[in-house]
Amino acid sequence: MSVISVSDVEKANGVLVIAARDVLTPLAADRAKELNVRIERAGVAKEAAAQAPLPLRPIVQGSVKPTPATKSPVGGNSIQPGALSGALYRRGAPVPTKMRVRDNLEDAAQENRPRAAVIGAGHVGAMTALRLAETSLFSRVVLVDIIPGLAAGLALDMWHSAGLRGFTTRIEGSTELSALEGVSYVVMTAGRPRQPGMSRTDLTGVNAEIVGGVADGIRRHAPNSVVVVVTNPLEEMTHLMAKRTGFPSNRVIGMAGVLDSARFCSLIALERVAKPQDVNAIALGSHGAEMVIPLSLATANGRPLEELIAKDRLAAIVERARDSGAEVVKLLQKGSAYFSPAESAASMVAAMVRGGSSLIAACVQSGGAYGVADTRIGLPVRLDANGVKEIVKLPLRPDEQAALAEAARSIAKRISELG
Ligand code: APR
Repeated sequence: MSVISVSDVEKANGVLVIAARDVLTPLAADRAKELNVRIERAGVAKEAAAQAPLPLRPIVQGSVKPTPATKSPVGGNSIQPGALSGALYRRGAPVPTKMRVRDNLEDAAQENRPRAAVIGAGHVGAMTALRLAETSLFSRVVLVDIIPGLAAGLALDMWHSAGLRGFTTRIEGSTELSALEGVSYVVMTAGRPRQPGMSRTDLTGVNAEIVGGVADGIRRHAPNSVVVVVTNPLEEMTHLMAKRTGFPSNRVIGMAGVLDSARFCSLIALERVAKPQDVNAIALGSHGAEMVIPLSLATANGRPLEELIAKDRLAAIVERARDSGAEVVKLLQKGSAYFSPAESAASMVAAMVRGGSSLIAACVQSGGAYGVADTRIGLPVRLDANGVKEIVKLPLRPDEQAALAEAARSIAKRISELG
């Protein structure tokens, strides 16, 4: 006996001859009518065969116990225990027992994944939430914004794309920080972006207030989470987040080094020496004027950049990378960069979940590393599920080491002025 499906019908050329005991699914019968395919059952009158498909037999396999007869959600007909409906793939069809069990297992697997949250559903936040969801590493991504409906609307819109993009992370929106319950990773993007002519430091006052309030909510509702701060000015806001949450240094990390490194690598690629992903460089120091790119460590396809590109040209590219944020702000006229910042933040969180992260730059508490002031500064680190796993010591040239120390001094001064 064979089950004759839609695909068998679609392959038939006008007539499909099936054996007397073959089972023709209702959908296959419908499709046959649509395509004008005549079903001929050996030894049965042609007309009758096409009109009356044999029902599929109830299948109860292994240890799966049949459930009591259930009311159909649509038709009101009761179905028999364990019976596979012939209309299995029709909208609203009764779900057979075996499939329900499998779905429940998938639900359980879904819930075993961690949850993430993104605070601020603006440009950076919305894009970060989508990027996180697209990894399918999380059971849920919660987007939070104070503007009523903004996070919920964007979350629903993103979820509508799940099937197209092929991700299984549920995205939800809320105006309440209580939505952070059960969240393991929080990306903080709430706050004002720069406008043309503004430095990141000009945002300190307004964003400090926002970060302080959100930090209190994170401490209350997600006390064991790892927080990635994106809100600018980066070092100050990372410091404030750490102080207000009271979280240990490894669980509050500023996102800047990944972005600044990526900007530099992409600009180097414009010199046609390598693809962006084949340029290897790391941006340390501050997310701003005191950014330090140790050129002694920078390579393209494994070759030192200092051998491939003239010194002046390299210096100009470093300068452009340092000012890339302002360059984008000036072009946009309103708001600041968000594609690359969101990608950077999401990749940091994904690296933590995947474990075994490669070397990246992140804003962390130096704790005496590199012999610089103990402050929040961009250093090379490895991440794991709990945040910063270790600060990695790279061999810097004396001029690079001096620039890093100078950056630490400037940042420490700005942080002390926060009060
Ligand atoms: N709680 C939640 N959301 C908030 C709060 C708050 N207390 N305060 C402000 N927001 C929301 C705003 O309603 C807005 O939707 O933060 C969002 C910020 O979005 P945008 O204005 O689009 O700013 P964006 O470009 O996303 O930049 C956000 O990231 O890169 C940094 O410098 C940038 O500090 C800025 C931040």
